[in-house]
Amino acid sequence: MSARMIMKLHVSDVYDEAPDVRVLTLRHPIRRELPESTPGAHVDLRLPNGKIRQYSLIGDPTDRTQYRIAVKREDDGRGGSRWVHESLKVGSEAHVSAPRNNFGLSSEAQKHVLVAGGIGVTPFLAMVQELSAADQHYTLHYSSRQPVPPFSDFLKDLCGDSVSIYTTHDPQAPRFDAETAFKTVEDGTHIYCCGPASLIDAVKRATAHWPPEQVHFEVFEPVIDENFTPEPFDIRIASTDAVLHVPADRSALDVLREEGFVLPSSCELGVCGTCKCTYSDGTVIHRDQVLSTAERQDQMMLCVSRARVRVTLDL
Ligand code: FES
Repeated sequence: MSARMIMKLHVSDVYDEAPDVRVLTLRHPIRRELPESTPGAHVDLRLPNGKIRQYSLIGDPTDRTQYRIAVKREDDGRGGSRWVHESLKVGSEAHVSAPRNNFGLSSEAQKHVLVAGGIGVTPFLAMVQELSAADQHYTLHYSSRQPVPPFSDFLKDLCGDSVSIYTTHDPQAPRFDAETAFKTVEDGTHIYCCGPASLIDAVKRATAHWPPEQVHFEVFEPVIDENFTPEPFDIRIASTDAVLHVPADRSALDVLREEGFVLPSSCELGVCGTCKCTYSDGTVIHRDQVLSTAERQDQMMLCVSRARVRVTLDL
């Protein structure tokens, strides 16, 4: 596990892409280059109360002089987007992590199908820049409740026939139909989805018969499973053979930190990928939104995932 570097960046530009979507450009006050990012990457933005929010980088991934993020104001949300809209102005300082990518483009894919809903379009803004520049085969399906969806002019200009925009405020307008689009499994096609839970669920259902390694999701909000009842379990530390007990009301991350392990974390909600740890045996109850099926064979997220009875961690 590696800690995420937090940088003090300056807001160099702000504009409203839509009445509730603000785009911010962030630059380092001294350094000309920021840490590299790849399409689909996000950064953590640290709020004044110490909480963290994740935002996809939407700019040209080859331009390392600046990061750009788009923040939708959610008045019923947890407060992060309100703070961004009300407090970050040109010249403000923003505490931002180096990028992390849990939603990268597959190098194996011969065709990419991108499915976006609402502000979930943001990771795809960088992806389509790379895919268009590399002349790769892709389609973007973008559904939005807005009559004029944010970034639609940019996407139409860049993607041409490769983008289909669905404006769901109009009941007569055509909708994206995941069941039909993904009825037939296609070798070499990778599907990527980011958007509200209803879209994620629809695409999960429609792709249930696809190989899991060909279907990718980006989720920034934890999925609340009200039926889950946490059970206590034990952690064995591989390097020392020590055994730590994790009570039902605490996380593995909390217990390990209390024992002196210095472990990075960010969201502590299972959505950012920072607290990943490898394990070598035990049955893990995965509760994150980050790891693929293959990764879950030997990795777990310490902030939310648990184990049945005992797990051995590579610490
Ligand atoms: Fe974000 Fe654990 S801290 S997934």
